[in-house]
Amino acid sequence: MQPGEPSRTALGAAAHRAVHQVLESGRIFTDPLAVRILGTDAEAALRDAKNNPSRRMLRLFIAVRMRFAEDALASAVAGGVRQLVVLGAGLDTFAYRNAFAESLHVFEVDHPATQAWKRKRLAEAAIPLPRTLTFAPIDFERETLADGLAAVGFDPAKQSFFTWLGVVPYLTEQAVFSTLEFIARLPGGAHVVFDYGNPPASGADRDRYAAAHEVLATRVASIGEAFRSYFETDALRIKLMGLGFREIEDLGPALIRERYFANRRGSLPDRGGHVVRATTV
Ligand SMILES: C[S@@+](CC[C@H](N)C(=O)[O-])C[C@H]1O[C@@H](n2cnc3c(N)ncnc32)[C@H](O)[C@@H]1O
Repeated sequence: MQPGEPSRTALGAAAHRAVHQVLESGRIFTDPLAVRILGTDAEAALRDAKNNPSRRMLRLFIAVRMRFAEDALASAVAGGVRQLVVLGAGLDTFAYRNAFAESLHVFEVDHPATQAWKRKRLAEAAIPLPRTLTFAPIDFERETLADGLAAVGFDPAKQSFFTWLGVVPYLTEQAVFSTLEFIARLPGGAHVVFDYGNPPASGADRDRYAAAHEVLATRVASIGEAFRSYFETDALRIKLMGLGFREIEDLGPALIRERYFANRRGSLPDRGGHVVRATTV
């Protein structure tokens, strides 16, 4: 991110969610606030999407990761989760349409510059701040999540759920694992959903994923938010288990297609963007 500036990829992800409501009628992920939080940027987002049909793949991946996370959250709330931490929240709207507000407190963690920008946008869109929401401005690269959450009243003894969507690829491996270690050690038990990319193949092994990845990596780097980490699926699973996560569900392109796009023909290789749910409970 550029010093003191809000994340531009946060605006990009929010634009994809808004466009998904319009062009795909929110078929994978329904978000009644997605267009409203974009305000005057919504029209340009729709125009861009229509002019760049190749961005549809990324838009659908973003819709899938949201749907996967919110479905998992709903089951976890039924199983006793009482706190949700939205890590690197960007313009995520869950807190403002929280269907479990009676029992679920939401902490939105984000880079201070992005969070200040979001609060301005919420005010402009006249989206009220619920009592069940607490903001936690934290820079993951400078401050520990433990310190940042302790400062805003997060209770480590309560069963908690963490969503961490569209953030891991932008962090160093060290920052990723220290956050996962904190989550795994919470005494009340925890669930986390995050997404990551496999390292793209190079040379003669270059495939469709490597080509699509290159376009995206160049775009995000050009706006000062370069990708910094990739994980091999098997190695990540071993690492998560070593940290104390017991149940791990990892969906790569093939399983994502099977679950959310069952009407599409053909199979896909499993290298690419993944979304994972891991739990210590
Ligand atoms: C691609 S956006 C994703 C936002 C949101 N989770 C979504 O899916 O729309 C990346 C988010 O990571 C946050 N982020 C990036 N680096 C960060 C850091 N060092 N500390 C805290 N947040 C960071 C940005 O502020 C931004 O909100």
